[in-house]
Amino acid sequence: MADVDNVKEGKQFHVDVPAVSESFFLKGSNSLDWGTKNRLSNIFNPDTGRTVMLAIDHGYFQGPTTGLERIDVNILPLLPYSDTLMLTRGILRSIVPPTYTRGIVMRSSGGPSILKELSNEQLAVDIEDVIRLNCSAMAVQVHIGGEFETQTVHNLTRLVDIGNRYGIPTLAVTAVGRQMVRDAKYMRLASRICAELGASYVKTYYVPEGFETVTASCPVPIVIAGGKKLPELDALKMASNAIQQGAAGVDMGRNIFQSDAPVTMIQAVRKVVHEGETPEHAHDYFLSMKREEVKVG
Ligand code: R5P
Repeated sequence: MADVDNVKEGKQFHVDVPAVSESFFLKGSNSLDWGTKNRLSNIFNPDTGRTVMLAIDHGYFQGPTTGLERIDVNILPLLPYSDTLMLTRGILRSIVPPTYTRGIVMRSSGGPSILKELSNEQLAVDIEDVIRLNCSAMAVQVHIGGEFETQTVHNLTRLVDIGNRYGIPTLAVTAVGRQMVRDAKYMRLASRICAELGASYVKTYYVPEGFETVTASCPVPIVIAGGKKLPELDALKMASNAIQQGAAGVDMGRNIFQSDAPVTMIQAVRKVVHEGETPEHAHDYFLSMKREEVKVG
């Protein structure tokens, strides 16, 4: 009963100090609930407002992707350098140590394999399991212009409704069909639809022409996918350009885990995303440190 024992004069109400009322650091996220903001802060670094998400969910539709054959061997060494892991619950439970305390973004849609029509996805996880696994967000593929466009949009809106009930953000992943043009016009359309329908943040591909119009017209943060493996300098230039043009980070997979030196590459990506390093400097770092990683490996 310490308070009862205390003399009243000892209390400090600081009546002359106004209560702090800060706005939340992420674009378009100020009106979200406390739990949602707290989870978003596990994904985006509040100091930089950015994130390096490591995407290793490719197996959910294409099986043991190159670089992900042995996640225990190839990916676990990268965990200290990722702000967030994007993956399936199967890999999370079977391989990732529960001592990993950063954000987990749960792949929450699925269905077709690479042998079938990829837009024919449904929700593939129950909210109870997302909560049980202490996830920071749920990711759902949205195929604007795809054969099952409406179905994937409904997947997004259902997930947003369920997530809002429990304070769990939803990441909309814009999937571009093989027959579609990957340009700013398409990315603006897809990302804006996802944001309008309630996504907390959106993942798109980077496009060299007009990407700043994609980020400007999307009211919530955008992160870019890495796409197919590029030479490291090109991947770092892409990440840097995206950040300069308004992206809030990367959700990168193959350009990290298919590198000859993935541990060094993810650190080079961090330099571009969090420290504002030029891609050339980050690449010099990659080249100098790569030798050590390859020697040790
Ligand atoms: C693909 O559907 C997966 O959702 C990946 O998370 C995404 O494509 C990012 O990985 P990458 O950088 O390899 O493109």
